[in-house]
Amino acid sequence: MTQHRITIANRDNAVYRVDPHKPLLTSLLDQGVDLPYGCKYGGCITCAARLIAGEVNQKAQVALNNRQINDGYVILCVARPVTDCTLEIGVESHGDLYRNPFLDPLAAHELKADIATPLEEKT
Ligand code: FES
Repeated sequence: MTQHRITIANRDNAVYRVDPHKPLLTSLLDQGVDLPYGCKYGGCITCAARLIAGEVNQKAQVALNNRQINDGYVILCVARPVTDCTLEIGVESHGDLYRNPFLDPLAAHELKADIATPLEEKT
């Protein structure tokens, strides 16, 4: 079976080999990586990490808005690696995850995809 290499940039570039069919959170926890998590179904954002290089499939996530996705965030409990990836993990990677909605509100295109979709396209 083909595995992908996951490099953790903020853990001395430690490299792990993972199954492309398993969520990254599961694969990395199983190999002893210390990661924050909560719901494990893509809804709470606790396990967010920043993808620096590579590609993941995280279609099942519902936690991130478009702004967070464009800033490189991925939801490890549902994301499967499509290629070798480099990640920044843990709360240290959450520096740009949250933004004060009163000081810096999201523009329409930055909202969650299902909210940002114009009404006429929802039917
Ligand atoms: S643990 Fe809740 S979104 Fe991943």
